[in-house]
Amino acid sequence: MRVLGLETSCDETGVALYDSEQGLLADALFSQIEQHRVYGGVVPELASRDHVRRAVPLVREVLAEAGCALQDVDAIAYTAGPGLVGALLVGACTAQAMATALGIPAVGVHHMEGHLLAPMLEDTPPQFPFVALLVSGGHTQLVRVEGIGRYELLGESLDDAAGEAFDKTAKLLGLDYPGGPEIARLAEQGQAGRFVFPRPMTDRPGLDFSFSGLKTFTLNTWTQCQQSGDASEQTRADVAHAFQHAVVETLVIKCRRALKQTGLKQLVIAGGVSANTQLRQSLEAMLAKQGGRVFYARPRFCTDNGAMIAYAGCQRLLAGQHEGPQVRVHARWPMQALPAI
Ligand code: KG4
Ligand code: ZN
Repeated sequence: MRVLGLETSCDETGVALYDSEQGLLADALFSQIEQHRVYGGVVPELASRDHVRRAVPLVREVLAEAGCALQDVDAIAYTAGPGLVGALLVGACTAQAMATALGIPAVGVHHMEGHLLAPMLEDTPPQFPFVALLVSGGHTQLVRVEGIGRYELLGESLDDAAGEAFDKTAKLLGLDYPGGPEIARLAEQGQAGRFVFPRPMTDRPGLDFSFSGLKTFTLNTWTQCQQSGDASEQTRADVAHAFQHAVVETLVIKCRRALKQTGLKQLVIAGGVSANTQLRQSLEAMLAKQGGRVFYARPRFCTDNGAMIAYAGCQRLLAGQHEGPQVRVHARWPMQALPAI
């Protein structure tokens, strides 16, 4: 089965063609980051309008790269939520219009299920069951995954998501949007141990997270440095290093706990923050000690992309699921509400 995937939930238009026999045939992405950067974050209306401009040209580009015609597409998968409603509607309308015109099924995909399954596109995919750490701009969750649609939420952030904490902290430090890669880059120049930040909620049992206090702690530290006349580029890098180290260690501690609690040895990390090199290396070191293994997607499939939507949609279509002709999207949508396949 050949599935065209459309991702339009936020500020990236992603399109891909996935074949259940041959794997990924082609994928293309347009990132709107430059348009939103001047505002320091995503402006929903600008995002929707740009998805309208990009979707069809990207579909053409992907089909050309795969050497396929529209008639070779067997079904269309699109992100149906969670995300920005206007942006989601662009993908949903485009997908439903194409499906109707071509007389083929369309399926709405949960964005976080797409992220969760993205490591399946790699050469050595994880096997069910596993623990997944989902770390994106909107979510931080630990999930026990028994199979597709069989998700048990083990813990989640009570306030900011990990990516959101990176983005907000970057803004406080005067860095560009999106802040995750900016902080990661600056932290490389930082001196380890000059500042030590708290590891929130690690001193009590449980698998929930809280990152907003860490953001405030970073702001206070940086403000004190500025007030004492020590706002050098090196100090800023040292603060970024301390922040990233605290987030990474907190995530590692909770992942180790989740693996112990479930008795599982495989950990999948997914979502934009799973592109973070420090996080990958620290989790690899922890799992090497535990005799387990960590799985993640290549960096461009960690952040938003069409390939993960085409893959996840294909699995659900193969199980016989598809939408009616209605265009329905969900700004909020718990992953636990998805049917098992
Ligand atoms: O999954 P994603 O592309 O979009 C959402 O579904 O939210 O994740 C975007 C988030 C942003 O907050 C961004 O700052 C963060 O992922 N991010 C990173 C890195 N690359 C992207 N955070 C830390 N380190 C990175 N290398
Ligand atoms: Zn995402």
